[in-house]
Amino acid sequence: MSSHYQHHVFFCLNQREDGGACCGAHNAQAMQEYAKKRCKALGISGGEGQVRINKAGCLNRCELGPVLVVYPEAVWYTFVDEQDIDEIIESHLVGGKPVERLMVDH
Ligand code: FES
Repeated sequence: MSSHYQHHVFFCLNQREDGGACCGAHNAQAMQEYAKKRCKALGISGGEGQVRINKAGCLNRCELGPVLVVYPEAVWYTFVDEQDIDEIIESHLVGGKPVERLMVDH
């Protein structure tokens, strides 16, 4: 079965009000918006066979956050800033080469 999108990316944007660890406290929303904008500008996002950047609720890996996951490869990343997002986009989403240094699973 095909995966429909070439790469389907989910950013956890969960925000907790109780002070518990959450991706929303680490710039996740701004980085999701940035990724979406960058993929659009690069012309790689859109429909079938392309890249899709989605928002997600808690992905249950809060202590490692902020986290995003790229399917169909199921590669989990953490990130700090726009440079990290650029690297994931350019190396993994465009070049097909996952970014070892930002992976949360080794
Ligand atoms: S708050 Fe992001 S994985 Fe739970």
